[in-house]
Amino acid sequence: MRVIIEPDYGIASKWAANYVARRILKFGPTADKPFVLGLPTGSSPIGMYNELAALNQKGKLSFQHVVTFNMDEYVGLPQDHPESYHSFMWKHLFGRIDIPKENVNILSGNAPDLAGECAAYEQRIEQRGGIHLFVGGIGPDGHIAFNEPGSSLTSRTRVMSLTQDTILANSRFFDGDINKVPKTALTVGVGTVMDAQEVLIIVNGYNKSRALRHAIEEGVNHMWTISALQMHPNGIIVCDDAATMELKVATVKYFKDVEAANLDPGTL
Ligand code: GLP
Repeated sequence: MRVIIEPDYGIASKWAANYVARRILKFGPTADKPFVLGLPTGSSPIGMYNELAALNQKGKLSFQHVVTFNMDEYVGLPQDHPESYHSFMWKHLFGRIDIPKENVNILSGNAPDLAGECAAYEQRIEQRGGIHLFVGGIGPDGHIAFNEPGSSLTSRTRVMSLTQDTILANSRFFDGDINKVPKTALTVGVGTVMDAQEVLIIVNGYNKSRALRHAIEEGVNHMWTISALQMHPNGIIVCDDAATMELKVATVKYFKDVEAANLDPGTL
């Protein structure tokens, strides 16, 4: 696992955006051979989305032949609700870049058959030949997508009941009212994310420091689903200094030393 530690959120976001952009450019996607990108919601990726939109607007990066799969969506929230993950993605990224609408895949939390919707989503990923790069964030309890503590580390796309912790954390988007937060969501599984060729996780802020410690220093554990990244051959965590607060000094120093020898993805 690579751990990239940047001084602040802005620099970490730029690093993540440049990494994603470099991967897409190097792949050279075409209509017949699109780049398949997995994407998250939440506040963590917003800085990266701003950078990616800027690169697109400057003509340095095109999403014409990029196909996306989002991680998750609330169940029962109308698609046009301002806090649906559909609305989030069109506001923060898709509405600002040249991606064709038909290239965007987001689970429908209003499908009449939710289990069928999840199975079809897995099939759609498979039909595209799998995900090249899955970008994600984590919750303060170390969940990835909506794979709450206790989720199987081989789980696939399915319906999940949200924990009280997550409902509380996400109430900030629903006027601070936990009763307005949907209690159920559709989510890709830990196994779905881990099947991607590469996984890039953005972790920022002090409130994620405990989760980051479990992700990096503790063992693989289904109570901290992000820890499955330890088993991935191409896992990267990009974080800010604040998120490293609970890591050992030796851990921080080690990863900083390793990365000092690595080339930055570079500004485009
Ligand atoms: C939700 C999403 C996750 C996201 C997490 C953290 O639970 N389902 O995919 O990683 O929030 O959100 P934030 O980045 O706002 O802290």
